[in-house]
Amino acid sequence: METTKAYVITGPTSGIGYATALELAKYGTVILVGRNRDKLDQVQKTIEERGQKALSVVCDISDIKKVRSAAEQIVALKLPITGMLNNAGIMSSKAAKNVQGWDMTFATNHLGAFAFTEALSPHLPDGANVVFIASAIEDPERKPAKIMGMRGGRYISIEASTRGEWKEGGSKMAGIDAYATSKQCILAATMALARESKRLHFNAVEPGITRGTSLGGESTNSVVRFIFGHLMAIIPPFSHYSSTPEKSARVIARVLMDETGQTGIYFDEKGNPMQGSELSRDPKFQDRVVAETRGLLQKV
Ligand SMILES: NC(=O)c1ccc[n+]([C@@H]2O[C@H](COP(=O)([O-])OP(=O)(O)OC[C@H]3O[C@@H](n4cnc5c(N)ncnc54)[C@H](OP(=O)(O)O)[C@@H]3O)[C@@H](O)[C@H]2O)c1
Repeated sequence: METTKAYVITGPTSGIGYATALELAKYGTVILVGRNRDKLDQVQKTIEERGQKALSVVCDISDIKKVRSAAEQIVALKLPITGMLNNAGIMSSKAAKNVQGWDMTFATNHLGAFAFTEALSPHLPDGANVVFIASAIEDPERKPAKIMGMRGGRYISIEASTRGEWKEGGSKMAGIDAYATSKQCILAATMALARESKRLHFNAVEPGITRGTSLGGESTNSVVRFIFGHLMAIIPPFSHYSSTPEKSARVIARVLMDETGQTGIYFDEKGNPMQGSELSRDPKFQDRVVAETRGLLQKV
């Protein structure tokens, strides 16, 4: 296949990832990485019907072995990948385990994304961009999250996180500590990788409170979904951070296609630099998260 640029995106079958895959397809070949073959086929068909190019790789991002095999398949495509987007993520009130026996939310949002990046990044050309989708819920001082009773990342250690154990004093809402901690870890890892790499650029994006996606969908009823999906867009202070998948997609695509060499930046839903939690900004914490994550993943 002849192409000048290619982009890898995880979780392109719904919400922000779907809108971003369609946006990226305007600029190059999109490599769609998702867990459901039928849904991937549908996205690929939509892109191809527009006269654009896409390929699909089936992969459950929570499963570290599958992630490494997907990275091998992608390398074998020999496409000029200039951007890699780690977007796949879950927020679930139901505790579950991945095939390695680890907390499913933590495995999907942090461990899988990190393992995928470690497997693929040595094969990316100099100057390629790697982007992670974070969440401001990781910050215990974030106003809208605080109002909703969220308490930010609750990190004890990577091993404890795999067991679904979080620092005490967390949120009363089931699944939120797992989500916030996983997002705090991937944000901290982004910053450590940016400092570490001389070749690639690592940035994170907080997409805003984005309505119309399926995040948390399996674990909430229709009233809660309506509140999160529509009312949040008009009630301050939530509305300040409100976004749509299409708006988020444009911001994310811009960061992924950037050619200025920016690295180690956390962008908000409008594409402006923002600050993460105090802990996520601490280089010692960032390095600890990466060292412990690598230590764990070596065992798989
Ligand atoms: N929506 C928001 O307000 C918001 C705010 C901050 C951050 N985020 C982050 O934005 C990202 C996208 O979320 P969204 O709101 O667009 O949610 P979404 O509509 O539920 O999309 C999530 C995507 O991730 C995929 N996915 C989930 N688990 C996977 C796994 N194990 N393997 C492979 N793919 C998997 C889903 O695949 P299926 O289609 O097969 O389910 C789907 O394509 C997430 O990282 C989320 O944490 C969202």
